[in-house]
Amino acid sequence: MKMLFRTLLAVPLALASMQAMAADYTIKLSHVVSAHTPKGQAADLFAKLVEERTKGRVKVEVFPNSQLYNDNKVLEAMRLSGSKTTGIMAAPSLSKFVKFSKTLQTFDLPFLFNNTDDVHKLVDSPLMTRLTKGLDKKGLRALTVWDNGMKVFSIKADKPLRNIPADFTGKKFRIQSSNIAASMIEHLGGTPQKLPFKEVYTALGQGVVDGQENAWSNVHSKKFYEVQDYISVTNHAYLGYLVVVSDEFWSNLPADIRNTVSGALKEATEANRKFAAIADKGDRKKIEDDKYAKVVELTDAERAAWRQATAPVWTEFRDEIGAELIDDVKKLLGR
Ligand code: LMR
Repeated sequence: MKMLFRTLLAVPLALASMQAMAADYTIKLSHVVSAHTPKGQAADLFAKLVEERTKGRVKVEVFPNSQLYNDNKVLEAMRLSGSKTTGIMAAPSLSKFVKFSKTLQTFDLPFLFNNTDDVHKLVDSPLMTRLTKGLDKKGLRALTVWDNGMKVFSIKADKPLRNIPADFTGKKFRIQSSNIAASMIEHLGGTPQKLPFKEVYTALGQGVVDGQENAWSNVHSKKFYEVQDYISVTNHAYLGYLVVVSDEFWSNLPADIRNTVSGALKEATEANRKFAAIADKGDRKKIEDDKYAKVVELTDAERAAWRQATAPVWTEFRDEIGAELIDDVKKLLGR
């Protein structure tokens, strides 16, 4: 009996260790949003495709909701990780690379993109190599860009954000770790406050900040709209992600594995654009239907005023980003 019990116990353990042994490489993919968002869905699809196509030689473990790291910590962990068999991968928002790249700040310039078609034009162009240049020297290998969507502004107040600077005056806004976003809020008349994503719901609920800017999917999945009164459809900037992995790990992967993983990433990226387009419309509708926060559109005149008020941000960051690069991006987008 004892013998049989030991055998029964040993079988699953042996299977588990065979599975563990079967994986030559592990990728820990850390992100901060929910699994059912465009980034979460793309991460899960990528994990599935990699495991299938490498026949288990590469295992991808996905950690959503800041379970493993927040976005700033993950980049440090990735840079410092010297492992050739376990790679840390993440998809932080493009705005969160400010410590490592001046050029990527281009993505934060207010009113640069009218919509995600504009973004795709840039992301799919050779200019992307210039925008991500130098990251590998900092230990980060840029692999692809994933969409979330265009950003809207939300606020807890007795009126929506429309008139600037009046509606921003005396109000605090949570932003990501982007200096351009900070300057933009100041030019709109408000006070910026950088906070990790994980803290936003509580900060809004407790009145530490009055408002925030984000894509519909995040406003919905993290329930920001339940603690806000108004959402203004501003589409003033893009929220998207740069998928990165430790350069050391990536460069040491055998070429066949690297190609297979790249192929899976390409497919996950195509799917991500579809997930994001669905979430953009669907999550806006759910927020409107729930009736916690009222959604308002800016008029053309209001939008023009916002654009004009934030134009100095472009001048302020022109040299830091690179004047020539900005001009080439503008040319590509037909501005
Ligand atoms: C934020 O911090 O608001 C976003 O970058 C979170 C995310 O990953 O979408």
